[in-house]
Amino acid sequence: MDRDGLRSSDRDQKGGLSGRPLFEKSTRVLAKMRVATANRIDLVGVGGIGSAEDAYAKIHAGACAVQLYSAMVYQGLSLVPRIALGMDRLLANDGFDQLGQAIGVTTESWL
Ligand SMILES: Cc1cc2nc3c(=O)[nH]c(=O)nc-3n(C[C@H](O)[C@H](O)[C@H](O)COP(=O)(O)O)c2cc1C
Repeated sequence: MDRDGLRSSDRDQKGGLSGRPLFEKSTRVLAKMRVATANRIDLVGVGGIGSAEDAYAKIHAGACAVQLYSAMVYQGLSLVPRIALGMDRLLANDGFDQLGQAIGVTTESWL
C-alpha cells in the first residue's frame, strides 16, 4: 500500500501495488525471513520480478523458487523461458552448476 517514491500520476489510485515498486522491499523481507527461519524452510521469492536478473537476485537473497505475476501480464508467457535461460547464464557466470549453490549468497546485504 505504501506509495513512497512513486512518481506516476496514478500514484494516488486505491488498491495494493504489484510489480517493480515491490522489488526492493519484498527482497528485504525475503532476506529477513531467510534469517528468521534459519534456512530451515523453503522460501518463494515474489514481488517485482521482470527479468532473469531480478529472479536471480531473489535466489541470491534467499529464495529457492520464484513467483511472478505483473511482469508476465506486460511481457507475455515467453518471459518464463527468458528468465530460465537467463538464470542458467547467471549461474554459470557465478561458477555454479546448480541453483541451490546460489541460494542466500547475498542475504546479509539485504538486511
Ligand atoms: C491482479 C492480481 C491478482 C492477484 N491475485 C492473487 C491471489 O488471488 N492470491 C494471492 O496469493 N496473490 C495474488 N496476487 C499477488 C501476486 O501473486 C503477487 O504476489 C504480487 O502481484 C507480487 O508479484 P508481482 O510483482 O510479480 O506481480 C495478485 C496480484 C495481482 C496483480
